[in-house]
Amino acid sequence: MDMKYTDLICGRRSVRTFDGKGIGDDVMKQLEAFAQDCGNPYGAVMEFCFLSAKEHGLKSPVISGTDNFVAVKMKRQPHFDEALGYSMEKFVLDACSIGIGTNWIGGTMDRKAFESAIDLAEDEVMPCVTPIGHAAKRMSIKEVAMRKGVGADRRKVFGELFFDGDFNTPLKEDEAGELLLPLQMVRLAPSAVNKQPWRVVVEGDTVHFYEKRGKNFDSKSVGDMQKIDVGIAMCHFDLTAKETGLGTVFEISYPQIETPENVEYIASFRVFSAE
Ligand SMILES: Cc1cc2nc3c(=O)[nH]c(=O)nc-3n(C[C@H](O)[C@H](O)[C@H](O)COP(=O)(O)O)c2cc1C
Repeated sequence: MDMKYTDLICGRRSVRTFDGKGIGDDVMKQLEAFAQDCGNPYGAVMEFCFLSAKEHGLKSPVISGTDNFVAVKMKRQPHFDEALGYSMEKFVLDACSIGIGTNWIGGTMDRKAFESAIDLAEDEVMPCVTPIGHAAKRMSIKEVAMRKGVGADRRKVFGELFFDGDFNTPLKEDEAGELLLPLQMVRLAPSAVNKQPWRVVVEGDTVHFYEKRGKNFDSKSVGDMQKIDVGIAMCHFDLTAKETGLGTVFEISYPQIETPENVEYIASFRVFSAE
């Protein structure tokens, strides 16, 4: 891929209003190739299903101007939410690199129609879908209102998300060293209703990811939207750490760090200088 993930992350936004012109065959082929190259550190396998809305009667009340959607399904398994977050976000960023807009959708869709279109089996889950297409020149009034409603252009300040050794010590940007850029890219990640539920503790050479759980994001049948958010954040960290010349080793190590209420450990990356 020609573009840097850092630039893609800085330039990406959710796209809900498309130009109505569809996607050419070559671009579609590229998107299908991207979908084949979306691994995740859990080694979890998932299927990216390319769908026509017209053909399957699919609807999302927030999307206009495209017939094309991608739904992602996988076997229900431990850590499926985080794994899906990581893999699907890589697809979102790769799509962005060829000018294709996307919008993570976990709620505002006719879920039954999507599940039936992809023949979802009993032991499978399909937490999220995304439209794909070229962004319209102007956002619809609905899209503008939605962005305003969740403050989509804002993110929490650095010291609210990142910590130094324990949860009582906010990490200062000027003390983050070589982790500064990857952490800034975590900060910009998209999340369900823009809640940014990831919290990160840097302990020596290891970066621990946690979920700050909110109410009503976890559903037995669909998954935990906020664990998906943490998977997205981990994707941003891993891709951009590697891009800045760091190596990463993924581990689930349950660190002995006291957690605030409603904060749950997810996974860690040990980083080392790869150059
Ligand atoms: C897991 C997840 C689920 C989401 N579900 C929806 C949804 O159902 N409908 C919607 O319009 N946007 C949805 N979003 C998009 C967020 O609202 C959006 O990412 C956030 O407001 C930040 O805006 P940005 O993506 O433009 O940076 C979802 C995002 C994530 C990561």
